Amino acid sequence: MKKKIILTGIRPTGNLHYGHLFGACQNWLKLQDEYVFYLEIADVQALTDNFHSPNKVHSNVFELTSDLLSIGIDPKKVHIFVQSQIPEIAELTVFYSNLVTMARLYRNPTVKTEIAQKKALFGNDGESVTYGFVGYPVSQAADITAFKGELVPVGEDQLPLIEQCREIVRKFNSIYGEVLKEPEPYLSKTPRIKGLDGNEKMGKSLGNAIFLVDDEETISKKVMRAVTDTQKIKKDDPANPEVCMVYYYHKLVNQENVDVVCEECKKGARGCVQCKKELIEKMNEFMKEIREKKQYYREHPEEVLRILENGTKEARSVAISTMRDVKKAMQIDYFERGE
Ligand code: TRP
Repeated sequence: MKKKIILTGIRPTGNLHYGHLFGACQNWLKLQDEYVFYLEIADVQALTDNFHSPNKVHSNVFELTSDLLSIGIDPKKVHIFVQSQIPEIAELTVFYSNLVTMARLYRNPTVKTEIAQKKALFGNDGESVTYGFVGYPVSQAADITAFKGELVPVGEDQLPLIEQCREIVRKFNSIYGEVLKEPEPYLSKTPRIKGLDGNEKMGKSLGNAIFLVDDEETISKKVMRAVTDTQKIKKDDPANPEVCMVYYYHKLVNQENVDVVCEECKKGARGCVQCKKELIEKMNEFMKEIREKKQYYREHPEEVLRILENGTKEARSVAISTMRDVKKAMQIDYFERGE
């Protein structure tokens, strides 16, 4: 059977953290064996929020790519590519922009939430909201359809963007003919990963992220500050592991002992300090191989560059072929017609 095409993207705005890894990337590791997989380093999309910091986006393209390689994304199986280096995506974005109304973009729940956040942050009435930002769902529709993506693995927050993409595809096909593929979201089974501070979400901007590049000392500091059962006062008080973030993280990196941790905690047979120290040890064990690989790519930046270059070349050939079909359907293939 022909393998289905998967496409997903990630913004190069910082290093990978546990939220990415357990929420999304571990899922990708499984998918890379079963699908034709395009993984976009979405630098153009990162620029919508960071257009004033080209330096940051530039260096994060390499940081993020080497993080992805370090966790086991295999460039022989996955086409890892850089969005800005595929001009066909930008071209498609322009054509799609006629198929979307401003009202529809402003109604997109993801865009709406992000605009509200910007207003709260900058304290104005939205003066700083750019055309590029409001339009990024259109650009994301181009990301997906340029590669004929059929399944898009994303978190729940991205569902409105996939829906918007599907609408654009239907509109395009109804006007110009059946050229584009309507993608389906592929929701990760893992819910969002909580922070060690007890926050429902881990994020760089929330200040509670555990990064894959964190060294042992940093990990130790972060875990020692983690939120535990506040009802537990003394070391041998029985406690409730379900409200404890240390237990939550044992479940992620210490699966083989998690039942023991749980039972001992409930009985009061395990102090929080000991429990945290064990977690730190397990995290370091878990990150050992990732750290070694990361170190390797730090020492071999040219290899990361080559992987991106190859992946981009492979991906671009597909985008070029999609573009040919699109232009033909839109009757803007003037020089291909032999007239
Ligand atoms: N918007 C996504 C995010 O912020 C990243 C992204 C860019 C993406 N292009 C994509 C996701 C295409 C899926 C498909 O996480």
